[in-house]
Amino acid sequence: FEFTPENTEKAKMYIARYPEGRQQSAVMPLLDLAQRQHENWLSRECLEYVGNLLSVPYMRVLEVATFYTMYNLKPVGKHFLQLCRTTPCWLRGSDDLEAVCKSKLGIGNGETTEDGQFSLLEVECLGACVNAPVVQINDDFYEDLDAENFEVVLDALAKGETPAKGPQIDRVNSAPEGGAT
Ligand code: FES
Repeated sequence: FEFTPENTEKAKMYIARYPEGRQQSAVMPLLDLAQRQHENWLSRECLEYVGNLLSVPYMRVLEVATFYTMYNLKPVGKHFLQLCRTTPCWLRGSDDLEAVCKSKLGIGNGETTEDGQFSLLEVECLGACVNAPVVQINDDFYEDLDAENFEVVLDALAKGETPAKGPQIDRVNSAPEGGAT
């Protein structure tokens, strides 16, 4: 593994953001860069490459990569579903979304479909509880989901389309008369 010329330039830019003598602090953005280049996961080779660039021992890089859940240390599907399972999303139906993953895609937590299209990972609060339940798919948030509109999103992705991001219902106009919005 090595950075593309374009990512090499980006890596230099990230490293230059840190004060003299603190360049090793760029380990996190460089791991992110490596992950994006390497089909959304980090192999040992990727970790070693980033470590060598920053003169950080492999074990230190591994400590960072295993501490933060946004780094994937094994291959994930093209569409990486991160299903929020924290209380607000759970109260608003994350169980239903998990059931859709099982019935429609045949995958549970930590699993990938055989065709490599979808992976599911249960995560803690994604910080968008106001529109619970929420699933992050790659870099995008899909909110106010239910079994029905989640299936629509998954169908669109399977067809290679880009479904509308963000809230999947219009709460203002779908709220009952006089109800909370
Ligand atoms: Fe799911 Fe906060 S609890 S986004």
